Amino acid sequence: MAKTKFQALRGTRDILSPDSERHRALVDVFAEEARLAGYGHIMSPIFEELGVFQRLGDSTDVVSKEMYAFEDRDGSMIALRPELTASVVRAFVQHNPAALPWKAWYEGPQFRHEKPQAGRYRQFSQVGIEVLGSDDPHIDVEVVALGWRFYQALGMSQVSLLLNSLGDASCRPAYHAALETYLRDHFDDLSEQSQATLEKNPLRVLDSKRREDAGIIAGAPLMVDHLSAETAEHFAAVRAGLEALGIPYEISPRLVRGLDYYTRTTFEFASTALDNAQNAVGGGGRYDGLAESLGGKPTPGIGFALGVDRILLACDAEEAFPAPRTAPDVFVVDLTGGAEAILLTDILRRAGIAADRGFDGRSMKAQMKVADRSGAPWAVIVGEDEVANATVTLRDMHGESGQTSVARDALAATLNTRLHPEN
Ligand code: HAM
Repeated sequence: MAKTKFQALRGTRDILSPDSERHRALVDVFAEEARLAGYGHIMSPIFEELGVFQRLGDSTDVVSKEMYAFEDRDGSMIALRPELTASVVRAFVQHNPAALPWKAWYEGPQFRHEKPQAGRYRQFSQVGIEVLGSDDPHIDVEVVALGWRFYQALGMSQVSLLLNSLGDASCRPAYHAALETYLRDHFDDLSEQSQATLEKNPLRVLDSKRREDAGIIAGAPLMVDHLSAETAEHFAAVRAGLEALGIPYEISPRLVRGLDYYTRTTFEFASTALDNAQNAVGGGGRYDGLAESLGGKPTPGIGFALGVDRILLACDAEEAFPAPRTAPDVFVVDLTGGAEAILLTDILRRAGIAADRGFDGRSMKAQMKVADRSGAPWAVIVGEDEVANATVTLRDMHGESGQTSVARDALAATLNTRLHPEN
């Protein structure tokens, strides 16, 4: 039988070292920003009952076209999460935490059956936060600022913040009606897709990127011009807070976002270092009705999710946030057959020194080559003579200090001093 050679599925990828270390380092930076701001870590399941995600709105592509939904073995319908907000709000409703606002951060893979291209995958990673239980505009400011400061912490400078308010129950219905009337007046000129979208949710038509819709969208009434006094005041307070922090933003009155739960403040972070089509490196907003639609008490909420894969592409384009160094501190070259290397690497690793070694009883020359390729600044060489004298030879792989003989017992301490002379 012919052997099958498997490959990762379309739209998914293996992330190998050192890219994977860079990914983890990014999550560590995010975790620290979130910790500093009082957010607790939430780890929720990767799959949920389908109904949890159906609340995101069936006029959105994420729900109607892209969801990995399937029948479980017991006949129930489940889905791989396409995003985490619905899961986190489901968890909030389920556990009903007493202390509000409840602030949570997360990281992990999401799944959407999209057409794969650079920066758009079927399995991709997000980091994000959600806050439930307060509609204080200062929370909106804290949330947006956390995202902004995170990009700064990565060393990114080509990120812009787009801000909008989508109104709420007090003003959205009247705006919807005005928008719908306008779009119906231009129905024949809309693309076929937008004509279909109009039937489900007029607001989503504003999200169309089709050329034939551009002119009509440009003339459409804008939510920001139809906000109720209360919503307008909330939005003004959010803007004032961002200004107080010196965080630059651009009002983007046609910013709709790809999910239906948004109310009031919505925002997107765009990288000017990336191609237009995939330049959104993060986004979020308020979703004051979501908890209730998931069976909870009416509870305001706000959050964001940032796309890790895309942020790293933007970092590449900006030459920011390089992969961390993964070379070992020391490489053990064993000329006795390998048994010494078992002991030495164990001693070194227990002393907190990253130690790698050669295998397969190879020649000194071959082992030195691997040591060199490993990037380790130090090599420990051990042969029969060293074993007899309870010493090892320590070689400086990059610097000037050449090689010295060190007592085996003193190896870990000597190396630690050389690796960290400042201590
Ligand atoms: P979203 O805009 O759908 O929002 O996704 C947030 C970010 O995830 C995007 O800006 C992008 O960077 C990344 N992303 C989305 N789809 C893909 C993909 N197929 N491949 C690579 N990256 C992708 C949400 O997910 C909301 N849950 C955000 C939120 C949280 N709103 C309130 N709280």
